[in-house]
Amino acid sequence: MKPVFLEEMGQQVEEALRRFLPPVDSLRPWLEESMRYSTFAPGKRIRPVLLLEVNRVLGGGLERALPAACALEMVHTFSLVHDDLPGMDDDDLRRGQATCHKVYGEGMAILAGDGLLVGAFLTLIRHLEGTDRVIRCQQELGEATMRLIRGQAADIRWSGSLPSSEKLEAIHRDKTACLLRCACRMGALVAGGSNEDVEQFGRYGEALGLAFQIVDDLLDLSGDRDSLGKTAGKDEKSQKITAPAVYGVEASRNRARELVGQAKTFVAGYAESRGLKQLAEYCLERSG
Ligand code: IPE
Ligand code: IPE
Ligand code: MG
Ligand code: MG
Ligand code: MG
Repeated sequence: MKPVFLEEMGQQVEEALRRFLPPVDSLRPWLEESMRYSTFAPGKRIRPVLLLEVNRVLGGGLERALPAACALEMVHTFSLVHDDLPGMDDDDLRRGQATCHKVYGEGMAILAGDGLLVGAFLTLIRHLEGTDRVIRCQQELGEATMRLIRGQAADIRWSGSLPSSEKLEAIHRDKTACLLRCACRMGALVAGGSNEDVEQFGRYGEALGLAFQIVDDLLDLSGDRDSLGKTAGKDEKSQKITAPAVYGVEASRNRARELVGQAKTFVAGYAESRGLKQLAEYCLERSG
């Protein structure tokens, strides 16, 4: 079941995003409008909520963490807009609505992604408090984003090639797990946690991220368009290296369950970690 706090914190993230994203200029509205179109479509907001929840577990205040949470969601949305482009996965539907390039054209969708990516770092610089915190968060987000892009490169280059567990692991770790890991590490950094906290929550985020992408691959195979808000059945057609292609459905499901179990053990030592455990369960059970 979707945890209630995911919904509530997600709304707080959306309100903050409205403040941090550049306003729409009436004379030349195109770029900002397309950025906002993709951002405010109904996403699950898993990554920013992970950041906020880790921050909360370590005693950090919500308001102070919102710029970092929003920066993360901007990077994620950039990755979705570009992932859907004809030169990549060529998708028509995202977050229950037509993809950015279908509405604004391919050129503008490329620019919307660019704007969101740069906007993420500007949000950290302009709105996050504390020079040291800003520098560390920029480094975390920059390194994770570079890995995400590398993962996307492997994803497209290895499409149609012989599936292997090594390729799958590399793709999943880089294109997806890395950003969930980053969410948790940034949550600990923003809260002023110790290096050990940053590492430990990072481990939780990485295990959860690996499970998250296995479930995404499984849902592409068995999910439906309405619950997913995106087109199902595309991975097989595009001959993607996916968990079910490498391990089969049953073993993939078991692997995702095992990873979620591992993720929960990484945070078990923290009082107040119930929410993070619920989030981990939700990532496994979700249908969209
Ligand atoms: C989709 O992520 C892309 C993957 C890395 C699997 P989400 O499933 O979190 O997408 P939204 O944000 O809810 O739309
Ligand atoms: C997503 O992988 C990875 C990203 C970084 C966007 P997918 O290509 O499987 O994501 P969906 O299924 O289109 O959301
Ligand atoms: Mg893709
Ligand atoms: Mg895709
Ligand atoms: Mg997918």
